[in-house]
Amino acid sequence: MKIVSQIKQPVEQEMELFETKFREAMSSKVALLNRITYYIVNRKGKQMRPMFVFLTAKLLNEGAVNERTYRGASVIELIHTATLVHDDVVDESNKRRGFFSINALWKNKIAVLVGDYLLSKGLLLSIDNGDFDLLRIISVAVREMSEGELLQIEKARRLDITEEVYYDIIRQKTATLIAACCSLGACSVKPDSSDVETFRKFGELCGMAFQIKDDLFDYGAKKIGKPTGIDIKEQKMTLPLIYVLNKCSASEKKWLINSVKNHNKDKKRVNEVITFVRDQGGLDYAVQKMLSFKERALQLLATYPSSAYKSALVLMVNYVVDRKK
Ligand code: IPE
Ligand code: IPE
Ligand code: MG
Ligand code: MG
Repeated sequence: MKIVSQIKQPVEQEMELFETKFREAMSSKVALLNRITYYIVNRKGKQMRPMFVFLTAKLLNEGAVNERTYRGASVIELIHTATLVHDDVVDESNKRRGFFSINALWKNKIAVLVGDYLLSKGLLLSIDNGDFDLLRIISVAVREMSEGELLQIEKARRLDITEEVYYDIIRQKTATLIAACCSLGACSVKPDSSDVETFRKFGELCGMAFQIKDDLFDYGAKKIGKPTGIDIKEQKMTLPLIYVLNKCSASEKKWLINSVKNHNKDKKRVNEVITFVRDQGGLDYAVQKMLSFKERALQLLATYPSSAYKSALVLMVNYVVDRKK
């Protein structure tokens, strides 16, 4: 069986019901908006976040979820979708999930408004049902994501990012949302337990590994459904490059910084940078760091008793670092 089907199997029914609820949660009376959300739901992503929500809840509650768990999963996926729509505007990216991005098809104005719409629909889903504990978890994640994206822009302008700041950025822009998936999954079934914090940490560690993997994809040439090689174009310095900058000679460093600063739209030059980073062991270093986050996540899980849900979560953690897209 394919690894994704294996992960999904213990939450198969929940994921099916989730899809219907998620679709409904997006609907609007405005025809243009409906056309766009229709376009979005028909090009779905990996849906790893709702899987994290359901697997965590089921692991902690003897296989049972409730309406709060479903709403939590929908809110998270709505917010994730909103941030991707905005992220493609910010990154001037024209591809997402193997198709044109919203900004590529409908332009930035519309993409910004659609992102806001999805975000507000997510928050309202919690408010209308009085899920205020879940809403707090989600709102913290939304704030952190905006801060993370802005910190990233600040660093891209100054080109003075350190490895520590890189971890801060990815923790904020990506890991907090996956942390929210797991703490929310826990909180939906066990509101006052210490598992909420343990699973927040577990999700955060998975999220760190997840974003390092995403940044590694950008250095590759594989088809992943979105552009590769665009981080340098956007002056985004990620872990492989940061590592190499710290270990190369002063003249090499000058060449690298100058490439990113003044030749970042020159494809040939960007490819030279990519090759240099690879040859200097930048990718290997990032892989090693990614795997250490993965190991720490697995250690947290190890304290829980065996179950089908735990096994699926272990597979999920491995999928985060082994995935092909
Ligand atoms: C992409 O997330 C955004 C990042 C945080 C890197 P996913 O890779 O989970 O996106 P989809 O939903 O599967 O397209
Ligand atoms: C992650 O950053 C996006 C968000 C957290 C919103 P990236 O810009 O690296 O994500 P991709 O590669 O476009 O999916
Ligand atoms: Mg992007
Ligand atoms: Mg990326």
